[in-house]
Amino acid sequence: MSVDLTTSLGSLELSAPTATASGCAAAGRELAQFGDVSTLGAVVTKSIMLKARSGRPTPRMAETPRGMLNSIGLQGPGIESFLEKDLSWLTENNVTTIVSIAGNNVAEFGQLARILRDVPGIGGLEVNISCPNVESRGQVFACNPVSAADVIDTVRSEWTSSAPILAKLSPDVTDITEIAGSVINAGADGISMINTLLGMVIDVDKMKPVLGGRTGGLSGPAIRPVAVRAVYQVHAAFPEVPILGMGGIRTGHDALQFIAAGASAVSIGTVVFGDPSSPWRIANELGQELEQRGYSSLREVIGLAHKN
Ligand code: SIN
Repeated sequence: MSVDLTTSLGSLELSAPTATASGCAAAGRELAQFGDVSTLGAVVTKSIMLKARSGRPTPRMAETPRGMLNSIGLQGPGIESFLEKDLSWLTENNVTTIVSIAGNNVAEFGQLARILRDVPGIGGLEVNISCPNVESRGQVFACNPVSAADVIDTVRSEWTSSAPILAKLSPDVTDITEIAGSVINAGADGISMINTLLGMVIDVDKMKPVLGGRTGGLSGPAIRPVAVRAVYQVHAAFPEVPILGMGGIRTGHDALQFIAAGASAVSIGTVVFGDPSSPWRIANELGQELEQRGYSSLREVIGLAHKN
């Protein structure tokens, strides 16, 4: 293929335009049986917290038309185990790694940044300020410009590494450009968007919500137009700020929409559960889509939909 698919997210150079979306491929190792993980643009890890966490009650998944609802609740092993077992594997296998972090409060985000800043092998930090599955909706930092900025400001003050800080935003806001502006002013180098939309499915025989946690995050193709719109709006407002775009991407054609809207790279999420080789497939398809349209590089297409 003659199309140059290399790209970048701030200071982080990516050899390929597709990354795994946080939470959809654990810490990458599970994908190793389907392809060479080091050839992906990046693995974005499942959001890691300071302490091990068991997550929300079951059931945690519900199918929806063209999508799914999850209510995992940030289940994970905690930072110490992550460093020992997961990050070490990623580093040994030369995987470009973006570590996703989540905290119960602003101080915890800062502590995570402090722990991670001197650890070798971290290509970037994705700061998950938008998890919908927290017990208190007041803790969804990304739904409020002041609390979103508080987290990023704290992470920035701890983060001495040159690897970029990406703030992961929620679409569940009135004006996503306001939140984007707020985190950029606070020191984010780039934006990851979008996290899932808050949703609910009700079992009308039991007359109660299907998910143990009642609400959950909606992902999959059903949310793609929302995600493309959000990327488009933020790129229009902040054209110099790199965007890692995601939300319901299943094909190279879908990915191309995100690039044209202004994303520099894309994360592949829900489709991975049914097609674990999709991050590689979608990168190939994206190359073909670009080639068919006469482009020689991905970079020349970033944000092109704003010019027409
Ligand atoms: C979860 O673990 O509940 C999902 C995390 C997220 O959507 O940010």
